Amino acid sequence: MSQAQVLPASDPKSIRFAAEIIRGGGLVAFPTETVYGLGADALNPEAVAKIFEAKQRPSFDPLIVHIANREALDLLAQVISPIDHRLMDAFWPGPLTVVLPKRENVPDIVTAGLRTIAIRMPAHPVAQALIREAGVPIAAPSANPFGYVSPTCAEHVLDGLGDRVDLILDGGPCLIGVESTIVSMVGAWPELLRPGSITLAEIQEVIGPIMSVAVSQTVVAPGQLPRHYATQTPVTILGAQGARPAVEEQERAGLLAMSAPSHLDGRFSAIEVLSPTGDLREAARNLFAALRRLDALGFDRLYAEPCDEQGLGLAIMDRLRRCASPNQFKA
Ligand code: TXA
Ligand code: MG
Repeated sequence: MSQAQVLPASDPKSIRFAAEIIRGGGLVAFPTETVYGLGADALNPEAVAKIFEAKQRPSFDPLIVHIANREALDLLAQVISPIDHRLMDAFWPGPLTVVLPKRENVPDIVTAGLRTIAIRMPAHPVAQALIREAGVPIAAPSANPFGYVSPTCAEHVLDGLGDRVDLILDGGPCLIGVESTIVSMVGAWPELLRPGSITLAEIQEVIGPIMSVAVSQTVVAPGQLPRHYATQTPVTILGAQGARPAVEEQERAGLLAMSAPSHLDGRFSAIEVLSPTGDLREAARNLFAALRRLDALGFDRLYAEPCDEQGLGLAIMDRLRRCASPNQFKA
């Protein structure tokens, strides 16, 4: 395939064209408030197969299905408990993915053969308009080659998958910058499968106790495997905040700083500051783009400052740890 067309998402004609591609079984990359997604008609197995091919994603890694309204939910999943409803009422549309028992008409390829399905109703107006115009639910993983850092602008998608998608809808940079929070509602207890911008505390306020990843150790999907969201350059997470890293002599290193450093450190050849004031929302928004910029410099190593694992800090540290994990996942 030649280089993908990039069209401004603000033009209604682009949305209509994108919807035609989806209905015709093609691939469209589109913005959501979290990261850019690589979308296909969720009810068309051949179209969904193209997602796996384009991303080089292993077939056992299930996709998230995106919907624009609650009627679509009933076609895809069984919503049984009042708690499921409370969760969706509180956070949809928004950056929350809910795992529920799936219905028969969802092709197996979407859920990697699981009897459950991950569903999300994004708040981004472009994502909403595209799903509505296409008239079908849209299966979409993050629009990056499998295992690499998720894209937070159209340019990132073009860099990673430019020759493998039919169209990229450019809606500017994503406001949140880390992937949705995933909560499973299929077990005996609600379970946090992936931390995101909707925090544990916010969820607990609505549905009460929820198990978190730290408590349950079972890996149910590769999104939870150690080395995911990885850069080419090895990443080391620094010790307690402010501790001086043991940067090796001769090593060309970059620093990913959570906030503005108090002094300029000559040991680093480049420094990316995620938020000058240490604001976690700003840090999350800048995280993947900053990692990509540092990665592009071809240094020997990147050092990342940690943040407190509270609120959004849990999602940021989750992504950094996976990035820094030496256990390369072989698909
Ligand atoms: O913010 C987001 O969630 C973005 C945007 C595009 O919506 N999407 C995204 O998709 O991050 P992806 O494919 O990169 O991550 C999907 C992850 C899977 O790797 C898996 O961990 C989990 O969702 N997942 C999907 N279906 C599941 C299921 N039935 N049970 C458990 N986990 C599931
Ligand atoms: Mg992903």
